[in-house]
Amino acid sequence: MVKHFLSIKDFSSEELGALLALSEQLKQMYRNGERDLCMAGKTMVLLFEKPSSRTRISFQVTAAQLDGSAIYIRPEDIGGLGQREPIRDLARVLNGYVDIIVARTFSHETVEELANYATIPVINALTDWSHPCQAMADMLTIKEHFGKLKGLKLAFIGDGNNVAQSLAMACAKLDLIFTIATPAGYALSQDFMEKISSVVGEDQFQILTDPFQAVQDADIIYTDTWTSMGQEQEKQQRMKDFQGYQVNMDLLKAAGANAKVMHCLPAYRGLEITDEVIESPQNIIFDQAENRLHFQRALVKYLLVQ
Ligand code: CP
Ligand code: NVA
Repeated sequence: MVKHFLSIKDFSSEELGALLALSEQLKQMYRNGERDLCMAGKTMVLLFEKPSSRTRISFQVTAAQLDGSAIYIRPEDIGGLGQREPIRDLARVLNGYVDIIVARTFSHETVEELANYATIPVINALTDWSHPCQAMADMLTIKEHFGKLKGLKLAFIGDGNNVAQSLAMACAKLDLIFTIATPAGYALSQDFMEKISSVVGEDQFQILTDPFQAVQDADIIYTDTWTSMGQEQEKQQRMKDFQGYQVNMDLLKAAGANAKVMHCLPAYRGLEITDEVIESPQNIIFDQAENRLHFQRALVKYLLVQ
């Protein structure tokens, strides 16, 4: 049966560990100048309803490095996803043309609908609900910097959004402690809480409102934009509601000199994070960005070769 990558919860801890090991192996191979040609003669289509720098570019590079090709499609070029024709028809047309679908959509149901009708792998490249490629590239980055994952504490400060949800699930599956501090009204969704409660124990998951409490003993401080794509009309209100949730030098000092700072990017300096923190030696933000490529190369090989 064809395997998709829609949500981290669909994968066992062992499978996720194997994906990280494959990422490390291929990263080393590529650094040594060796190549894996698992996409030879194969084509990836990128269907993106939202803008992207890292995800789009790293997937296009993934295809090129694996000897395949990639086509980038903006929904307006094909009359809008689900507008000119049903998603299920598009999925069945793509089955006959390409070998893998990478989709960035507003609704998570759109990637699920694509996967329901695709006989080729579908990769979630971000939805309003989750960003699993980001979270797994982040796990790879953490493992490289700390030499392990198990038992580390990741403190997420800000909005209980798509990135937070995928990170929380990745931490649960890979045995990290996940703590989140959000303002009232911006907590992780109730739906998500129901899903994660069957995966994680209480001692590995903490929900707070005080950022300073959240970063106590944290190995990693993570933040993301207060206003995600699609929420632009809420930006003014959010800027008020998130006051006190900025990752700045005071918060970084409260975590200690060994804590690392992470951000999925794009970052809005002066809002969720300060320029000084991004430029501090404690940041591992650009390693995260690079590891998008290394994780996704492994993911594509895993989905195509199995
Ligand atoms: N982090 C991330 O997914 O970046 P893009 O939106 O630029 O792809
Ligand atoms: N939460 C952000 C992540 C961007 C990579 C968004 O959805 O816009």
